Amino acid sequence: MTGFSGDIARVGVVGCGQMGSGIAEVCARAGLDVRVAETTGEALEIGRTRLFNSLGKAVERGKISEQEREATQDRLSFTTDLGEFADRDLVIEAVVENEQVKTEIFQVLDQVVTRPDAILASNTSSIPLVRLAVATSRPDQVIGIHFFNPAPVQKLVELIPALTTSEDTIGRAQLFAEKTLGKHAIRAQDRSGFVVNALLIPYLLSAIRMFETGIASREDIDNGMELGCAHPMGPLKLADLIGLDTVASVAQSMYQEYKEPLYAAPPLLQRMVDAGRLGRKTGSGFYTYS
Ligand SMILES: NC(=O)c1ccc[n+]([C@@H]2O[C@H](COP(=O)([O-])OP(=O)(O)OC[C@H]3O[C@@H](n4cnc5c(N)ncnc54)[C@H](O)[C@@H]3O)[C@@H](O)[C@H]2O)c1
Repeated sequence: MTGFSGDIARVGVVGCGQMGSGIAEVCARAGLDVRVAETTGEALEIGRTRLFNSLGKAVERGKISEQEREATQDRLSFTTDLGEFADRDLVIEAVVENEQVKTEIFQVLDQVVTRPDAILASNTSSIPLVRLAVATSRPDQVIGIHFFNPAPVQKLVELIPALTTSEDTIGRAQLFAEKTLGKHAIRAQDRSGFVVNALLIPYLLSAIRMFETGIASREDIDNGMELGCAHPMGPLKLADLIGLDTVASVAQSMYQEYKEPLYAAPPLLQRMVDAGRLGRKTGSGFYTYS
């Protein structure tokens, strides 16, 4: 898919981890000029390699041609300086699920992005959008655009307006998600977990509790849902794919919001995060990965 509709041609993506690299790939494949920022040159190199490997796989699978891969790579640029986001029409923040880190980024973006009606979006899974919005001088232009993992594959995005977000921003973000990127957009209120994680996280936590209490082995839990309910991936494999730090952070935000026991992270999850066993991204979680 190439070409764009609406008024968004230059996109900035902050963070080039699992989600940031996927979001940058989706935007560049849609024909947009995409600039990606990371904290250090090393993190940038890891992110760029992940992104370019993903484009290589898309060529191997016949999703894009070799020429499209080259053109997509030409539309991508990389930086460690958010000052280079001055000319962006839309910035999508996709850094770690940490409110303080995200708030500081929104404050910086507010200073550097010059287009008066630029949209500042977050890919957060659970942090209240309104808190990021009021950290800027343009709370009407802040919105959640929540992609799913892996972003180039999953069709869905959730659009989450804060209480302060204008109708104009919502409309332009929807046009961007649906017409420019070809995603299916659903709308959710600014409540922790939105639609999908509000349903998914208690399910994942239940599977972790089931494993922790010894009711079943990890393989039997995953096989149960794959073979009994036709899920493409069992819950423990899915938690490893999402990243156990992200699962724990989202659960914590949802628990803080609702105080429902079903959102409370089981001790095993927290211990695994403390041990640095974060799932696929670190090579070890409920399973080990080469
Ligand atoms: N993992 C998922 O399945 C998933 C799905 C949807 C949304 N999300 C959300 O996406 C966001 C990112 O998650 P992820 O899975 O990509 O995490 P990740 O750990 O893979 O990547 C986070 C990246 O952010 C970078 N970063 C941290 N601080 C930064 C800064 N100040 N400036 C620039 N880069 C910075 C880190 O170096 C890292 O590369 C989180 O808010 C998460 O909740 C995750």
